Amino acid sequence: MVRGLPIKAQNKIHQTLDSVGLMLSVQNPKVAVSMAPSAVRGLVLGKGKRGDHVDMPAHHSAHFRLNYQSDFAEMYDLYRRAVSKQWDGDADLPWELDVTPDNPNAQILPRSFVPFNEIEGFGVKLTALEERKLTWDIAAWLLSQFMHGEQGALFASAQVTECVHWTDAKLYGATQVMDEGRHLEVFLRYLDTKLEKIYTVNDNLFVLIDELMTDGRWDFKFLGMQIMIEGLALGAFTTIFQQTREPLLKQLLKMVIQDEARHVHYGVLALRDHITQNISEKERREREDWVYEVALLMRNRFLMHEVYEEWFSHKVPLKVWDEQMLDSPSMVKFRSIMFERLIPNLEYIGLMSDRIKTHYEKSGLTQYLGGKNATQLTEDDLTVDAGPGYDSDEMPEELQELAAGTSASRVGNG
Ligand SMILES: [Fe+2]
Ligand SMILES: [Fe+2]
Repeated sequence: MVRGLPIKAQNKIHQTLDSVGLMLSVQNPKVAVSMAPSAVRGLVLGKGKRGDHVDMPAHHSAHFRLNYQSDFAEMYDLYRRAVSKQWDGDADLPWELDVTPDNPNAQILPRSFVPFNEIEGFGVKLTALEERKLTWDIAAWLLSQFMHGEQGALFASAQVTECVHWTDAKLYGATQVMDEGRHLEVFLRYLDTKLEKIYTVNDNLFVLIDELMTDGRWDFKFLGMQIMIEGLALGAFTTIFQQTREPLLKQLLKMVIQDEARHVHYGVLALRDHITQNISEKERREREDWVYEVALLMRNRFLMHEVYEEWFSHKVPLKVWDEQMLDSPSMVKFRSIMFERLIPNLEYIGLMSDRIKTHYEKSGLTQYLGGKNATQLTEDDLTVDAGPGYDSDEMPEELQELAAGTSASRVGNG
C-alpha cells in the first residue's frame, strides 16, 4: 500500500512507524516502563536536537568511604596500568597530517560502507570524487556519534566514581574520567578541524544516555555504560580502525581502543562481583532482561538518516536505504564484532542464564558464547589491524552468513 506514494510520504510513514517501533520492539514490559521517560524526552520531545544543552536530572547517591583500605586487588592493578598509559591528545597524534576526501590513497572509509550498486538502481550515479565525499560524510556522522557517546561516558564515569563502593574502584574511576575527557577532546578536534562537520546526536543513543544519567542505580549505570555502550563503541571503533586508510584517524582510534579495553575490563570486574554476590535472583533477572532488550535495540539503529537526507531523500526510499545499509559488509562486520565482545562479557558477569540464552538463540546470537571476555583480551588483541578493508563488492563468506542470520530480525531507525 505504501509503495504507490511519493518517496517523501513513504519516508514519513517509515520514520513514524520506526519511532513507534522502537518502544514496541521492547518486549519486556518492565524494561519498557523504565525506558519510557527517556524515550519521551528523546523521541517525542526531541530534546537531543534542540538548543545548546539538555539538563538531565541525576538521582544517584555518592558513596563516601570512611576507611581507605585497599579492597580490590585486580582493580588496583588496573588503576596502576591506567595511570602508566595516559597519553596526550595534543602531542601524541599527528595532527599536522592533511586529511582530505580528494586523496584516494588515504580513504577515510572503504567503499563497502555504502550500498552504491543498489543506489544506482534508482538512477543515482555518483562520480568517484562524489563517492569519496559521501563516505566522508558517513565518517563524520559515525565520529559525531562517537563524540556524543564520549560525552555520555565522561559523565557516566564521573557518576560511577561517586557511586561505586570499593576504594580501588574509585581510584580507577578517576583515570577513566580523564580518559573519556581526552576521547571527547580528540573526536571533537578531528571533526572540527579535519572533517569540518558535526552531526546531532542519534535519537536512540540520546535515549540510552539520558536513561543512564537519570537512573539512580549505580549498577545500571555500570551495565549501560561500561558494558553496553562501551561494548558497542569498541565494536564500532575496531571496525573503522581496521578499515580506514587515513593515518591520523587510524592512530587516534588505536589510542582510544586501548583505553576502552580497560574500561570494559573495569566494568566486568565490578559487575561480576556485584551480580554474583550482592543481589537477589529477582534483581539479577531484571538486569538480564534489561541488557537483552538494550542489546537488540542498539543493534540495528545506527542508519545515518541525516546523511541519507542530504544525499538521497528525494531519490531513494528510506526503507530501501535502511535495508541496504544493514546488509552492507561494514555494518555486518560491526554487528559481528560488537556481539563477539558483548556476549562473553555477559556470560562472565552472570547475566547469561539458560532462561535468557533461549532468547539470544532466537536472535541468532549464541554463536558468540564461550568467546574471550574483557579480562582475557589484551590491548593487542583489540588492535590487530586486519588491513585496509573490503574495497570490492565481494563480501567474505563468513560475513555473508552473518548477514543472512541477522537481516531477518532487523528494525531501523537512523
Ligand atoms: Fe571513551
Ligand atoms: Fe570508555
